[in-house]
Amino acid sequence: MATKTRIAPLRPVYPSPAALITSVDADGRPNIVTLGECFNVSIRRPVIVGIAIRTATYSHGLIRARGEFTVNLPTADLLEKVDGIGMVSGRDCEKFERFGFTPLPADEVAPPLIAECPVNLECRVLSEQEVGDHNLFLGEVLVQHVDSDKLDASGQPDPRKLGMFVFALQTYLSVGEVIGELGLSRR
Ligand SMILES: Cc1cc2nc3c(=O)[nH]c(=O)nc-3n(C[C@H](O)[C@H](O)[C@H](O)COP(=O)(O)O)c2cc1C
Repeated sequence: MATKTRIAPLRPVYPSPAALITSVDADGRPNIVTLGECFNVSIRRPVIVGIAIRTATYSHGLIRARGEFTVNLPTADLLEKVDGIGMVSGRDCEKFERFGFTPLPADEVAPPLIAECPVNLECRVLSEQEVGDHNLFLGEVLVQHVDSDKLDASGQPDPRKLGMFVFALQTYLSVGEVIGELGLSRR
């Protein structure tokens, strides 16, 4: 058995997405931020996601003021943009324009969807809590949009078609082959 070494934890649980979160200012101008800290919290009824975001970001103030955000899950071919969006602030530039993304009006919230991402969630903030060096927003998912050509025969998002990648240990990794499906141990 391997010996264990104690190290200083940094984002110790992996992987996570590198999700693109949109918000809007009081005049409706949109912003985008890249977040690794984006996760499922309540999975079916209701569907609630969490995002953890530093108060120093521009997005934090916009999400707090409006009480709305969208989550957009990018594909691996968008990686350079995803990383770039996490390196600059919307205080200094208009990120939709700078990174060549197309804003699509959402149905229920003011922040736009990102057309180039195959999965988009419209979220309303339920709560905000300070947690260590980030603030945690819980958001109810009011609507989920999925590119029609990324659905399987039963109408669910097909993980084989989504072109997803993950963020783990400060590294982006592509997602490989399917190795099993939920409940495989019972078969
Ligand atoms: C892959 C990646 C993951 C990130 N995850 C987070 C995160 O979970 N929370 C956070 O506050 N910032 C995170 N960041 C940093 C923000 O994206 C960055 O501070 C951004 O410039 C803030 O933009 P804004 O000021 O326009 O809101 C991440 C950046 C990258 C590239």
